[in-house]
Amino acid sequence: MENKQINFFKAKDINTVLKPYKKGTVVNIDNFEARERQKELKTGLYGWYAICPSNVLKKNKIHYFSLFDEPLLLFRDNKNNVRCIKNICPHRGASFYGGSISNGELTCPYHGARFSSEGNCQNIDSITCRHIVDNNYDNYAKRIHLSQYKTVEEDNYIFIYFSDKSEMDLNNIKEEPSISNYELISNGFSIEDSVSEEVLVDFKCDWSRIIENHLDILHIFWVHGDTIPDKEVNKNVLVSFNQKININPNYIESIYFYKKNPTKEFIRIKYIPPGRILIYKGDPAVSRYVQVLDHIPLGENKARVIVRHYRKFLKNKLLNNLILFKENQKKIFYKIFNEDYMILKTQTYNHKMGLIKNDEIKLLGEDRMINYFWNWYKKSEEKDTPWKYINNKELNVYDEIIFKYPPEIKKLEVINNINIIRKAFIRYAAPLIFLLLII
Ligand code: FES
Ligand SMILES: [Fe+2]
Repeated sequence: MENKQINFFKAKDINTVLKPYKKGTVVNIDNFEARERQKELKTGLYGWYAICPSNVLKKNKIHYFSLFDEPLLLFRDNKNNVRCIKNICPHRGASFYGGSISNGELTCPYHGARFSSEGNCQNIDSITCRHIVDNNYDNYAKRIHLSQYKTVEEDNYIFIYFSDKSEMDLNNIKEEPSISNYELISNGFSIEDSVSEEVLVDFKCDWSRIIENHLDILHIFWVHGDTIPDKEVNKNVLVSFNQKININPNYIESIYFYKKNPTKEFIRIKYIPPGRILIYKGDPAVSRYVQVLDHIPLGENKARVIVRHYRKFLKNKLLNNLILFKENQKKIFYKIFNEDYMILKTQTYNHKMGLIKNDEIKLLGEDRMINYFWNWYKKSEEKDTPWKYINNKELNVYDEIIFKYPPEIKKLEVINNINIIRKAFIRYAAPLIFLLLII
């Protein structure tokens, strides 16, 4: 152990580190470093990603997606457990797109190789000609094996543990951090007596830009002020806040208190890396509303967001049906994403084209959350290298398969609007017409 004067200590963010100590204070370096590590978010982009709501993945159906441009798929095996497979057939490299699932077995559409849930090829004889294989079949069969990532279902989401490579044997994967970090109950919110709505949207923009957007409180007043029903949220009534930041290895949380009423909490935003953001309306212990935003880095310039909110108000099913609460809420979600979309697209373009440089962008001095996020992101990209598959931007053949929640959003939005008109007609106009006809 070593004692040193603190003013000689070298740290990456020297201001943060030195803040609690006066110049000249003698501290114990080992304890000091351990303590400081506790105040930093763990770096890295590998970890648990929520990929889709559980109900998206039906039995005998395949859900195609990608992470960091690696093509992947999900299906349910014969025990109803979710499997995440690399969408590349180990026989001759075709996609499984167009293939099928039966009794938890995946069949490739190219030569019909059939794989068990564990990944072994079940019909090796039928996909090769015995007489031209020199080596024995056992060796060949061992090599033709699916490659997987670990999955888990939690709070009705399917999560996968994404790391630097998929494995033939899932036991080789050591996940860190634990999935419990993402559970809503571990984050102070019980979903038991709440109801929820959700939408999925795909964006043609950089994944990290959307995260920045969801950590950015100021734009909510400007961009979404006329859409969010809360009258306190509008650029015309913009108020200022005191920001309190909590950081530990698993998350960073920013709490905004009204400047005029410093004990009253306006909003709380929690970032749980790599992809989840929770937004609480007030203290989680008493909050009646929490929004869960999951950010999925499909690939270069492609990102999916799942937004689900849980609410503890207006839970009566009949009343909700009558006022079309679900559909109207979805309409708000789509509108909010539309409002952000052009900004995020142009920001990504300006950045990728080199029209703006990182050090030319003035981060809002007072928004420590965004500042912290970008520093963390830079370190995390250096530590893990998930973008390794990006080498040919022209070959975007998977886009058609993967972009289900259209990048231009309109289609889903239009379907939802038609639903609102149709249901409103059935609920209100049709009975009225019927009544008039009788009279
Ligand atoms: S490439 Fe899949 S069976 Fe041949
Ligand atoms: Fe936004």
